[in-house]
Amino acid sequence: MCFAAPGGLRRPIFLIGLIAFGLVSAFSAAVAQADSDEAVELETALRLASLLREARAVIGANQDLINDPERGEKGLTGAVVLEVARENYRKANGVPPLYDGQGAREAALISAQMRAIGDVMAENQSTINREGVGFKGFVPAVFGRLVNERFYELEGDQAVIKVTAPPHLVRNRKARPDDWEIGVIADHLTSEDWPRNKIFAAEANYKGQPAYRVLVPEYYSEGCIACHGGPKGEIDVTGYPKEGGQVGDLGGVISISLMR
Ligand code: HEC
Repeated sequence: MCFAAPGGLRRPIFLIGLIAFGLVSAFSAAVAQADSDEAVELETALRLASLLREARAVIGANQDLINDPERGEKGLTGAVVLEVARENYRKANGVPPLYDGQGAREAALISAQMRAIGDVMAENQSTINREGVGFKGFVPAVFGRLVNERFYELEGDQAVIKVTAPPHLVRNRKARPDDWEIGVIADHLTSEDWPRNKIFAAEANYKGQPAYRVLVPEYYSEGCIACHGGPKGEIDVTGYPKEGGQVGDLGGVISISLMR
């Protein structure tokens, strides 16, 4: 009797409607959340790439000073590198590396990266200040690798920053791309229709661990050609055979993995 009452019939339909509506809104909220999480992660990854680039650029801008055999103490300390990098980072990103209201994860990772820069500069003062030696092997790529290695010691369970390259261009075996990087470089970054400077980002495993992974392409400019240009195979000042690259070619990739 009771189940025949009109109210009793309408109620379940109303409930189903509510549940369906609830599911849809929970789903779209989850999608919106995922989108905004991804935007935050992408921004963090790009900022880590930016700070690495700016610090590396300070080493590049001071290469003649570093290579000067006449000068001992050069004053190129971690504090100096960080100060110049910080200023150029601020111009590029509109915010300094650390600021009030910054996300906790980004703040932790950027802090660790700044510490890594300081540590690498401190560890290499005797090399940089050595008198009587011109070329000391302290070039932006080496500096960058050392900073990324130090960063890995500090934050490797949270994030990994690496400078890699298409496999045939790799000099240091530590820079070799993993399978995922090889695939993205081949299928996207070096494909004919990939827009210049376009970033690739996706959910993908890093050494079997779920991660958000971002690849930032880097191209050879005039300044790279003395070492990475032609004639191919000729030994450059650092002792490596030149790659035969040309200005504008994809020369490398900054690869950032943010662990889930
Ligand atoms: C003075 C020579 C020299 C110049 C100039 C130079 N590089 Fe390199 N590059 C090297 C050396 C040496 C390494 C290997 C560093 C290491 O031991 O990790 C390297 C490594 C790299 C790597 C990492 C992958 C690898 O092969 O190990 C990339 C990417 C790269 N260079 C790109 C560039 C770009 C882009 C420029 C110009 C903006 C540039 N390089 C300028 C000498 C140079």
